[in-house]
Amino acid sequence: MTTHALQSPHSLVASSAPAGPAIAAVIRPARLDDIAAIVDLHSSAFADTFGGAFGHGHIDQGARALAAAWRRQGAASMRGMLVAEHEGHLIGTTTLRTWEMGGYDTSAAELAFQEVLGVWGATRSLFALSLLDHRIGHHEGFLADVAVLETYRRSGVARSLLARAEEDARARHKRFLGLYVSASNGGARTLYHSLGFVDAHTRRSPFAWLLFGQGTWHYMRKSLL
Ligand SMILES: CC(C)(COP(=O)(O)OP(=O)(O)OC[C@H]1O[C@@H](n2cnc3c(N)ncnc32)[C@H](O)[C@@H]1OP(=O)(O)O)[C@@H](O)C(=O)NCCC(=O)NCCS
Repeated sequence: MTTHALQSPHSLVASSAPAGPAIAAVIRPARLDDIAAIVDLHSSAFADTFGGAFGHGHIDQGARALAAAWRRQGAASMRGMLVAEHEGHLIGTTTLRTWEMGGYDTSAAELAFQEVLGVWGATRSLFALSLLDHRIGHHEGFLADVAVLETYRRSGVARSLLARAEEDARARHKRFLGLYVSASNGGARTLYHSLGFVDAHTRRSPFAWLLFGQGTWHYMRKSLL
């Protein structure tokens, strides 16, 4: 089970803070010792998805399960993930997944989920997260986990992360980038449009609407040719 798939199509509606001064963040690959900071960031930036997957009163427990799943999977769980660091703090993430990176160790993740959430909690969460899965195409660089700490938003951090992810996708000879964004996430959609992404198709899921309060996502894509 991947917890990156967990974060891909969902989204919290971005804040509408005005643009601030640009921040020169360092963009680098994620490491295992970043896990606690990444999970903190994701559980707040993706609170609706965490609430849907783990229950709204259990977001902290869900975050612990996620961290345990990543630790069990080891370095493979960080494959393709980039972080933005500013003055020693982790302030943003994105993940570029490609077909040849292969899948995640789902049994390790299931065990970690069971340990933290119990059998039924793990089953429920795994079902919820499976609704957000995406099958990555051979020529695709699939983006997920685009998140920036609230106090650092509108300072160009997501733009820098996505520029680096695009560079990495080109280096891997990918022909296009793809991502899912919730129809209600106007801020993120503006960001992706400004970077050259266009709406390719729309995905609707009544189950996802019930669990996550979001039932419609746009698959956006950007050609790299
Ligand atoms: C969406 C998100 C990642 C944007 O991060 P960010 O670092 O603030 O984005 P940037 O500063 O790089 O923004 C670049 C451009 O995108 C657009 N943009 C970004 N956020 C916006 C918002 N809330 N409203 C309108 N436009 C926005 C603007 O055109 C902006 O340029 P400008 O600031 O010069 O006007 C951030 O709001 C976030 O983490 N949201 C919660 C998680 C989420 O929804 N992730 C997307 C999942 S698909």
